[in-house]
Amino acid sequence: MNILIAGANGDIGMALGAELNRRGHRLFSLSRSSNSPPWSQQHLSVDCSTASSVDTVNHWLHQLDAPVDGVIQCAGILHNENHRPEKTLRDVEMDWLHKSMQVNLASHLHLAQALEAFIKRDRALRWVSVSARVASIGDNYLGGWYSYRMSKAALNMLVRNLSIEWARKSPESIAIAVHPGTTNSSLSEPFQKNIAPDKLYSAELTADRLANIVETMTTDMNGKLINWDGQPLPY
Ligand SMILES: NC(=O)c1ccc[n+]([C@@H]2O[C@H](COP(=O)([O-])OP(=O)(O)OC[C@H]3O[C@@H](n4cnc5c(N)ncnc54)[C@H](OP(=O)(O)O)[C@@H]3O)[C@@H](O)[C@H]2O)c1
Repeated sequence: MNILIAGANGDIGMALGAELNRRGHRLFSLSRSSNSPPWSQQHLSVDCSTASSVDTVNHWLHQLDAPVDGVIQCAGILHNENHRPEKTLRDVEMDWLHKSMQVNLASHLHLAQALEAFIKRDRALRWVSVSARVASIGDNYLGGWYSYRMSKAALNMLVRNLSIEWARKSPESIAIAVHPGTTNSSLSEPFQKNIAPDKLYSAELTADRLANIVETMTTDMNGKLINWDGQPLPY
């Protein structure tokens, strides 16, 4: 397959590119950074959370020498130097909720908009948004992490809508959201102390699991939130 990985300089994105490259796929990459990953044949430095990225990415896709048939958007944010995930309602601040929506939702939305013209009845696309199990409404028994949960839940609804709209244009196209499993990365690093070592997976193991999903996903998974083991999770 010809696979585009966005958020390519993140821990999961980088490891996933390496694994898919090892499996013989042809890889392209998007990242805010201009560093082209070693496995990428063509790289574009762009921030998909901005609306202007739609045209930038669309033009870049037109000049690729091979049509993309798989896309994995890995972009996501849980914390930064000034913000930690909220423990209670009173911790929620609009500016951080907005930032979470920009990265966790808008960077996926804009990439989908940039790609949409390429989806044709005879050219199916496999779309994977890396989401999170904590965004499952049905599976939420702990509370907290308001901005991350709300923005990733919005992402799941985006993926559900994509799955419906794109399947009308191209019945073999598949759009899914995926929970990668708790993975050792800069995103999870501040929250790892309460995780049992056997429940904290390496980026390489997560990449292997996600690569299996990308290679084997079928139309009956369309529109679903899929766990790292390929099983559906409740929305
Ligand atoms: N690690 C886990 O335990 C875990 C669990 C559940 C879900 N996830 C999801 O897995 C995905 C990958 O996360 P990761 O663990 O690999 O974390 P990571 O190393 O922090 O990678 C996240 C990537 O998202 C992009 N990103 C971050 N901040 C951004 C911003 N302000 N604007 C635009 N893009 C931004 C960046 O890609 P570029 O630097 O390439 O632009 C960044 O490298 C995320 O969607 C995350 O929510 C992770």
